[in-house]
Amino acid sequence: MSDMLKTQEDRVVDLKEWAQRWDENRIGFHKPQVHEMLESKIDKVLAERTGVRFFFPLCGKAVDMKWLADMGHSVVGVEIAEKAIQQFFVENNLTYSEEAVPAIPGAKVFRNSEKSISLYNCDLYSLTSSVVGQFGAIWDRGSLVAINPRDREKYASLIISLMAKDCRYLLSTLMYNPELYDGPPFAVPGEQVHDLFGERCNVEQLLSENVTEDRHRAWGVNYLIEQLHLITPKIC
Ligand SMILES: C[S@@+](CC[C@H](N)C(=O)[O-])C[C@H]1O[C@@H](n2cnc3c(N)ncnc32)[C@H](O)[C@@H]1O
Repeated sequence: MSDMLKTQEDRVVDLKEWAQRWDENRIGFHKPQVHEMLESKIDKVLAERTGVRFFFPLCGKAVDMKWLADMGHSVVGVEIAEKAIQQFFVENNLTYSEEAVPAIPGAKVFRNSEKSISLYNCDLYSLTSSVVGQFGAIWDRGSLVAINPRDREKYASLIISLMAKDCRYLLSTLMYNPELYDGPPFAVPGEQVHDLFGERCNVEQLLSENVTEDRHRAWGVNYLIEQLHLITPKIC
């Protein structure tokens, strides 16, 4: 890891802090429209498949979930803040029900009436493939960049365990000077994506764009680059 990244290495945001952000409506990361990079690369993710099972790690209330479900795909998300999950269903005019998840103490799952969207209200790391199965696609925006930097290897192993053989994992990462802002989101350089996934997966960079807005300048950073990667399992 470069010396520059060491400034964020030990930064920890605990689950209570995330719930507090939702309670205080400090959710500048939420986008009211479908993410442009997902929209522009959706054909690459689908690869001519229909009815794909998508996983959204750290889903928040991303409207992308409704967009994909409306196209006939199914979505499983995980989110620690119950408020985010409830807002997702209410703001998208979806009736929903909730039930306990016996395999995960304290967890609940919320589903729309068509059962095309299932959002688990629990810690990401309590999910396993025996609970949620494996996925044909993953949309990771605001997730790898939001988890605590020290947990990245654990995160990558979990994500790899949830990838079906034909999985197409679209990952958005952010890069800025971490000496100027302590995150989250945390800076993740492209080389680290290769270090985390390259042994088991093919990693292709699809996009790299300067997405700096005034709200990022207010953090103190002078540039923010968003990179999009397509990750697929290596065939053994
Ligand atoms: C930066 S936000 C991104 C949300 C969403 N992906 C989006 O793009 O709008 C990260 C989300 O992850 C949730 N979160 C953080 N750590 C989590 C964990 N360990 N398990 C489940 N959810 C978590 C937070 O409550 C927050 O809503």
